[in-house]
Amino acid sequence: MAFSSSTTSIVSLLFLCLSLVVSTSLVVSAAGNFYQDFDITWGDGRGKILNNGQLLTLSLDKASGSGFQSKNEYLFGKIDMQLKLVPGNSAGTVTAYYLSSLGPTHDEIDFEFLGNLSGDPYILHTNVFSQGKGNREQQFYLWFDPTADFHTYSILWNPQRIIFSVDGTPIREFKNSESIGVPYPKNQPMRIYSSLWNADDWATRGGLIKTDWSHAPFTASYQNFNADACVRSSSGASSCSSSAQSTTTNSGWLNQELDSTNQERMKWVQKNYMIYNYCADTKRFPQGMPPECATTNLS
Ligand SMILES: *[C@@H]1O[C@H](CO)[C@@H](O)[C@H](O)[C@H]1NC(C)=O
Repeated sequence: MAFSSSTTSIVSLLFLCLSLVVSTSLVVSAAGNFYQDFDITWGDGRGKILNNGQLLTLSLDKASGSGFQSKNEYLFGKIDMQLKLVPGNSAGTVTAYYLSSLGPTHDEIDFEFLGNLSGDPYILHTNVFSQGKGNREQQFYLWFDPTADFHTYSILWNPQRIIFSVDGTPIREFKNSESIGVPYPKNQPMRIYSSLWNADDWATRGGLIKTDWSHAPFTASYQNFNADACVRSSSGASSCSSSAQSTTTNSGWLNQELDSTNQERMKWVQKNYMIYNYCADTKRFPQGMPPECATTNLS
């Protein structure tokens, strides 16, 4: 039984399409090889890529911390990374994981993990900078021990909103409020950065608890990086992963928003685990609250 020639050519056409899709998505949605996606940028050997590129570790001792950055620049994306934070007594240490553009009017989307004494809770600190201006901190405790296992920390960044998620649960949404005069990050491509450093002048109980160097080196670990994103090439063109736009019921990440279930989950986190919200800090802004607080970032 032989295929007719037309069947054969349809089959080979399908294969061609499939391999095109696969190779395109490899370019823009590379599921995690740290050698391929990142450079260790500082720390003189304290940052390491291990297990054939499947694992990355940063460490900190009294002499230095360490850090890495993405090779790619992204303009919008859905970016996931699994982190396992410094265990035990991590007081005074900060593990920063963020997206940032360059220059004095840079944009930035931050996760920062503030360490603590053994058994005391980490603080997950978040911030959004647009055109050089931040001051939009929200802080959370986590509902698990972030040092015991890897957990997924995600940033969805599209032209309408920025959503911070932890293990798929949204914890914070920063909406585009340009219509009321708030600059929104949407023109400057960003790289992914991470670093482990000493910040014992402010990190733990506001700087009261200092780093105990007898526990050094401190180590944080990273795995399973995934970026469904628009990647800027050196020519300045941007190419987006196939999942950016979707023809099926779920719209692609470029238009994604929180459905009512996820809004409820975010409310649950904010009610139970949020410990600081700049939009609720009236003392801090005697001249008037930031305009975005009046609308949708209030929660
Ligand atoms: C550390 O633990 C103390 C005591 O539970 C807590 O007040 C503080 O928020 C925790 N986190 C940091 C980073 O200080």
